[in-house]
Amino acid sequence: MTAELDTDFVRAQFPAFSEPALAGQAFFENAGGSYASGFVIDRLTRFYRERKVQPYGPYAAAQLAGAEMDEARRRLAAILGVETDELSFGPSTTQNTYVLAQAFRQWMAPGDAIVVTDQDHEANTGPWRRLAGEGVEIREWKIDPRTGHLDPAGLAALLDDRVRLVCFPHCSNVVAEINPVAEITRMAHDAGAVVCVDGVSYAPHGLPDVGALGADIYLFSAYKTYGPHQGLMVIRRALGETLPNQAHFFNADTLYKRFTPAGPDHAQVAACAGIADYIDALYDHHFDAPAEPAARGRAVHDLMRAHEARLLQPLLDRLADRNDLRLLGPRQAAGRAPTVALALDMPGEMAAERLAAQGIMAGGGDFYAVRALAAQGVDPDHGVLRLSFVHYTSADEIARLIAALDDLL
Ligand SMILES: Cc1ncc(COP(=O)(O)O)c(C=O)c1O
Repeated sequence: MTAELDTDFVRAQFPAFSEPALAGQAFFENAGGSYASGFVIDRLTRFYRERKVQPYGPYAAAQLAGAEMDEARRRLAAILGVETDELSFGPSTTQNTYVLAQAFRQWMAPGDAIVVTDQDHEANTGPWRRLAGEGVEIREWKIDPRTGHLDPAGLAALLDDRVRLVCFPHCSNVVAEINPVAEITRMAHDAGAVVCVDGVSYAPHGLPDVGALGADIYLFSAYKTYGPHQGLMVIRRALGETLPNQAHFFNADTLYKRFTPAGPDHAQVAACAGIADYIDALYDHHFDAPAEPAARGRAVHDLMRAHEARLLQPLLDRLADRNDLRLLGPRQAAGRAPTVALALDMPGEMAAERLAAQGIMAGGGDFYAVRALAAQGVDPDHGVLRLSFVHYTSADEIARLIAALDDLL
């Protein structure tokens, strides 16, 4: 059955939409950080009120705290199509790649190579590039300067038996084109390399089945995916058990602890179970047939993506028609996320300020995608205006955005 997303139901799950302090404002900076679902907020509040003790101790509050943290990992891992201990929680995606880069630094030999892109947010490129100082060769897979597209043929030319790792985004936070993760991963694997995929800009549009994609490492940030400020990291077992442990030596045998040396933020890890609650609630509201977690995740993913594409295409059509701006990334909604960066005559931040005065919350700047903007000939200091939405956005809000843009431009 193909259901259509019930936006009234969806919006009822987000307290921000009935919050008087936010009334009258349309939110288009979701790629910076989404609203949190009520399930997450309720769990976070309950944790702080009832369970804010050292987890896993012998008393009830500690047992409940530990069980809720375990529940978050178990349920989200199942939706992502991986084993429970292949998912770990760190302070942020930037922190997670930083730790991973230390592990790869110890694992790689001088003369080994890493492929990075100039499409990534700095979090999934800077830490890897720094390994050049350790004798690792860095090869840059470059985007097309006109379209921002990353062509797999360009990767093929960079792969040989010295490449151990290929780092790339599922989709960039300014280009927004969805990269073919499974195909790129197959290419890397055929050449004997593993992949590290930055899913931060993709996951808010539907959690992917990471198991099916085949990625060795898949990263995303819960605070952009209706949750609290955590970085979620899938590391598949074969790689996780091979890379050198970065945690305390006595935690080396616990896969989900090996690459998160920071003490966990207990409350926020537990509250991430609210993301799974939300996905399950969406599934139950829209579908009748019972299904396994990964299948529920896929169904909800498709529902979200279909709704987003319906809303995005008219916006893209309207913007593509204008010759006083440059729309970055693809013009067809189906192949991209609804993260729309515009290079304008006025600086991105100024445009965002003017939209704010009209009740449109948007962002301007370089969004830490400095390399991607520069590679497309956009001065990062001038920046872009970025309009980003997710499935909870309504057709009315898109209409308001289009009217405000007509006024601004
Ligand atoms: C595509 C992308 N990757 C990585 C990051 C970094 O995530 P975090 O803030 O969790 O470190 C961001 C944050 O904006 C992002 O947009």
